[in-house]
Amino acid sequence: MTRTPLTLEQLNALSDDAFTEHFAGVLEHSPHYARRAAAGRPFADVEEVAAAFARAVAADEPGAQVQLIRAHPDLAGKAALAGELTAESASEQTSAGLDRLSPEEYAEFQRLNAAYHERFGLPYVVCVRENTKDTIFEGARRRLTHTQEEEQAAALHEIGRIARLRILDLVQEGRQEKRMDGRLIRIP
Ligand code: GUN
Repeated sequence: MTRTPLTLEQLNALSDDAFTEHFAGVLEHSPHYARRAAAGRPFADVEEVAAAFARAVAADEPGAQVQLIRAHPDLAGKAALAGELTAESASEQTSAGLDRLSPEEYAEFQRLNAAYHERFGLPYVVCVRENTKDTIFEGARRRLTHTQEEEQAAALHEIGRIARLRILDLVQEGRQEKRMDGRLIRIP
């Protein structure tokens, strides 16, 4: 679903429920983080919104962080073929051309996804919008050499990057406020 971006002033004034609904898709199938981020308001700029989501994830239990990684569909995977992706994931995968792979590229993706699942028990998550098809392939090969701990940290880092770009799509920034002594001051 395409949501109309809100200004910082509008999102700072939303109820917790409305804020959670607006940002529900920022972290894949995990709207509860939007509710936790809501508690960090008021925000002075869009980077503070992204930081609030990052804090909510970083403060969560390790098991919940793994669940968040697992909530991501495989890139060019079965869900993508079946048209079962969230709107956000579908548009990201399309942006890197992952819906238009050659048969050889598709086979290579399936091979890398399978190797990755086998090694880490997780889907390979990368911020697709900050990459090209080639760097996505290269990243999968490189990350297969990681330890489990390194890889979970890498996946959470990528999820933070994905979330930040999704947040930028949902906030209309006018730079009307700045923070002074912890309070927001309107800039005329
Ligand atoms: N990178 C950006 N979106 C996604 C997604 O939905 N799944 C995976 N695995 N990586 C992504």
